[in-house]
Formats: sequence, structure tokens, C-alpha cells
Amino acid sequence: MADETAQQTPQIGINLNIHQAHSARMYDYYLGGVTNFPADREAAGRALDAFPNARLAAHANRAFMRRATRAIAELGIDQFLDIGTGIPTSPNLHEVAQGVHAGARVVYADNDPIVLTHAEALLDGTAQGRTDYVQGDIRDARTILEAAAQTLDLERPIALSMVAVLHFIADRPGQNAADVVDAFISHLAPGSYLVISHFTADFDPEATARMEKVYRSSGTDLQARTREEVTALFQDWRLLTPGVVASPRWNPDADAAGTTDAQAGCYAGVARLG
Ligand SMILES: C[S@@+](CC[C@H](N)C(=O)[O-])C[C@H]1O[C@@H](n2cnc3c(N)ncnc32)[C@H](O)[C@@H]1O
Repeated sequence: MADETAQQTPQIGINLNIHQAHSARMYDYYLGGVTNFPADREAAGRALDAFPNARLAAHANRAFMRRATRAIAELGIDQFLDIGTGIPTSPNLHEVAQGVHAGARVVYADNDPIVLTHAEALLDGTAQGRTDYVQGDIRDARTILEAAAQTLDLERPIALSMVAVLHFIADRPGQNAADVVDAFISHLAPGSYLVISHFTADFDPEATARMEKVYRSSGTDLQARTREEVTALFQDWRLLTPGVVASPRWNPDADAAGTTDAQAGCYAGVARLG
């Protein structure tokens, strides 16, 4: 369990606000991690009451991230930008990417200070490759892209991962997930890939509605989207087979076996520009 007295990380003076539940730490709890505090565990407990498959959903989502990253690396991509990274959980994206290309470059970005305090685990890549971390909000594409350009060559194709993060962007006046995605992908080179997974109500509407309520009551926006809405986030990019499907159905391997669509609760897809 995290050191519950460590509200401040003295060397960098970050306030972790441990008395309020955070989505990254709740997710860490579903995954069986130890970087969470009582407020996170209390909210995560209510989330598990609302959506009892949350642990399975989180594991299925991580497994999708690994499969998609490996597949894209095997297609020749050696630069990755992962937004909404989460608390490090091995194997992290850079371990998968650098397992294919030892020289792969990976930039992580998250807006939760707890991820920053654990960033060293994200920066332990291969000697040949490079990993970097940006503290940034997905709604601020310019800041993230400018910082990422220190490590990645944005004139060349990259893989942009937005895995289990866009459902925290609720559509409301002045903000919507489609614009958030567009602000990034309009700057990417042809041959780039976009990876998305996203919470949906399509499989279990009642449990999903309960889950949205729990997150909102803990101060976090959560908006499930339909298959049509998730597909639209890819704009006219070319979806890789099998398209937008429940996360365990995206090119499954042994890790994905046995998880149903309703348990996974998320859509997933990968698309290519050009
Ligand atoms: C459910 S976790 C997903 C972690 C990882 N992508 C995965 O799929 O295993 C969502 C992550 O998105 C981050 N996040 C939520 N809203 C964000 C925002 N507006 N900007 C950047 N990151 C955000 C949270 O801090 C958390 O780390």
C-alpha cells in the first residue's frame, strides 16, 4: 500500500490530494496495485459494487494496450506517444515497444501528479531507446505535442495511444472528446496510428450508468460512449481489422481468452492515417 503519510512528495513539492479519489489510483486498485489511498479504495469499492467486473475490465484493457502496441511496432513504428498513461504497471508500453524495436522512443503524458511521482518506472527503457514523461492534460494538445517533439520526430509516423482516457472527457459546451482527439491527430504524419479504448454502455447499460454515477460523485467526469461514437473518434483513418470491437476481441491472444464483452465494458480499435 502507498505510504499514507506521503501526501507531499518533498523533493518536488507535489500535492497528491490524497483525500479525494483519483481515477489513476482507482484504476491501480482494480489492477491490484499498491499506489492508492483510502479515498481511492473507498470510491473503487463503490465502483466495484456498481460494476463488479471493473477488475476484469481493467486487465482486459491493459492486455489490449499490449497487443495493439506490439502489433503497431511490428508494422514498423518506433515512436509512441501515450496519453493518460496511468500509474506504471509492468509491462508498460515502452517495455512492449522496445521489446520489438530496442531503439523505440516513447513519451508518456498524464495530468495526475501521482503518475509524475512514479515516472522513474516509465523512464527505465533500453540504452538504445529513449523514454520521456510529460505532465500534461489531454485537453492541451499543444503543450503535450511541443514537449513530445523533444523526444519524437513528429515529421515521421508515430503511434498515438489514448487508452482508457477519453471517457474522462465529458461532452459539454466548449469541450468534447472528438475535438480533443482532432487537436492531436491533425498534427501527425501520414502512416501514424491511433489507438483508442473507451468505456461503453452498449453491453451492460445499468451497470455502466451506476459506474458513471460513482465517478461523478467522487468528482471525476465519466462518459460512456456507443460503438458509433467511439468509431467516429477515428475520423476517416483506416481501421485495422477487426475494427472497433469489445477490447478482448481485438486480435485476441491467450491473455484475452475468457473475458466477455460485458465484463470488458470497453471498445477498442486501432487506425492508420493513409
Ligand atoms: C483508467 S487510467 C488508464 C491508464 C492506461 N492508459 C491504461 O489503459 O492502462 C486513465 C488515466 O488517464 C489519466 N487522465 C484522466 N484524465 C486526463 C486528462 N484530462 N489528461 C491527461 N490524463 C488524464 C488518469 O490520470 C489516469 O492515469
